[in-house]
Amino acid sequence: MNQRKKPEELRSHRWLGVNDLRSFGHRSRLRQMGYDGPDWAGKPVIGIVNTWSDINACHAHLRARAEDVKRGVLQGGGFPIELPAMSLAEPFVKPSTMLYRNFLAMETEELLRSHPIDGAVLLGGCDKTTPGLIMGAISMGVPAIYVPAGPMLRGNWRGETLGSGSDAWKYWDEKRAGNITESDWNEIEGGISRSYGTCMVMGTAATMMAITEALGLALPGASSIPAPDASHARMCAAAGRRIVDMVWEDLVPARILSPASFDNAIRVHMAMGGSTNAIIHVIAMARRAGIALDMARFDQLSRDVPVLANIRPSGKFLMEDFYYAGGLRALMVELAELLDLGCLTVSGQTLGETLRGAQVHLREVIRPLGDPISTAGATAVLTGNLAPRGCVMKPSAADPRLLRHRGPVIAFEDYNHMAREVERDDLAVTPDHILVLKNAGPKGGPGMPEWGMLPIPRKLVKAGVRDMLRISDGRMSGTSYGACILHVAPESYVGGPLAFVRTGDEIEVDADARRIHLHVSDDELSRRRAAWQPPPPRYSRGYGAMFSAHIGQADEGCDFDYLLAGGSIPEPEIH
Ligand code: FES
Repeated sequence: MNQRKKPEELRSHRWLGVNDLRSFGHRSRLRQMGYDGPDWAGKPVIGIVNTWSDINACHAHLRARAEDVKRGVLQGGGFPIELPAMSLAEPFVKPSTMLYRNFLAMETEELLRSHPIDGAVLLGGCDKTTPGLIMGAISMGVPAIYVPAGPMLRGNWRGETLGSGSDAWKYWDEKRAGNITESDWNEIEGGISRSYGTCMVMGTAATMMAITEALGLALPGASSIPAPDASHARMCAAAGRRIVDMVWEDLVPARILSPASFDNAIRVHMAMGGSTNAIIHVIAMARRAGIALDMARFDQLSRDVPVLANIRPSGKFLMEDFYYAGGLRALMVELAELLDLGCLTVSGQTLGETLRGAQVHLREVIRPLGDPISTAGATAVLTGNLAPRGCVMKPSAADPRLLRHRGPVIAFEDYNHMAREVERDDLAVTPDHILVLKNAGPKGGPGMPEWGMLPIPRKLVKAGVRDMLRISDGRMSGTSYGACILHVAPESYVGGPLAFVRTGDEIEVDADARRIHLHVSDDELSRRRAAWQPPPPRYSRGYGAMFSAHIGQADEGCDFDYLLAGGSIPEPEIH
């Protein structure tokens, strides 16, 4: 063991290692729980931040996995303490888990700061839990290792493979078109999620777990292991053993994260065909680390990196197949010439060292650079008079016909307006129309909900239309697909140009040229702006009011202004 840190230098020493009245209280309370000196004396205290909850199916196994982590911590010579944190179950938390990502980040940071913690193991995976945990751990700055919850097994319906979200959207449209029965739909409901674990398409969960591993913050290969696989429990124990060494080595996130490690993560994101949501989260994570990442960097890197992972919604397979194909390490071997292999990882090895021996086993699932599944790019950042600070789309998941398109607008003022209109059989809409949804942004949603994959109007669904251009200031689930332009910044609620779009205007999009243009004259836009009334505040008290007062726009990562890097927070006084 590389014992560079001495026991007296541990944070926890201030609570447990000195001999005064307060430390008497700390130790006597540990003894109250049945622990004794040999449990803690001179040992790193490891906080296991666990986002398990009874209502989070993606994390249902994390209660047991925390025990595996503890086993590893004990083997490594540490003292494990489990700390429950907000779970953020994507399907249940309303109005949007995104409203609470920063809440979890604050909770993680303050849990670690306020307790006698020397190092952290972070258990999460369901969408916002990964960035929330990582942002908090970066800001706190103690050694931390991320344990991804892992994807669930493939869904199944009558022998057909089902993917989370993606196939729900697909069969919902088939049901709206009258192509499947109520009883078929009910069977799909029972077969689409067959085990614990996160969504198993390349949604936000799989994307963020992979990105975090590529950043160097998870053990090599950890993010691809399906949640129910026995390897997952073994990975948890290994993380428990490793974090103890990381404390002695003082291997803090700041030593791992760099502009190069974020470029690696973005390239991996592109090669995975990852979720558009990752842009917001990765920018927020980088800025917590004091790295000035912006959307332009995503766009720049996306031009050089084709999609290699043949995973839905951009491709055909699921995360379980990806694991059998060799997982993220194998994908990174294919991508090696584009990665900085010298970046350090939590393993203590460089990224290049962790990839030794990895190889692709199923060529259909992980493709080589010379034969990708798409060169269209996982992410394109467009700008123009409709989105002066940018907006994003996922060309690889869109009907190619719509990547260059000009059409008339049907504008919806909010979600309820849209939901009513798209079900009307007399809606004057054609496949060339562009649907625009307002008030779905960070402040307007509130919480920037995943409303960006606006439903295709029922009239068109019945006629067989499955994609059309849709624009909003909201986000889109990573399990979604289609020609959806998202994250328009600034958002309409704060008076961004999207607020002034009217039904009948024309919008032109050119994904190759990275351009979006509202064909309305500057004079007319100024008139509309002058006549615009800001909507009333969404909240007058509570967390929502704090959120509204401090949330940043999508291009800034939607972090709170007072949580950004810079400034310092003292270690707590112990009196
Ligand atoms: Fe948890 Fe999709 S619902 S990862």
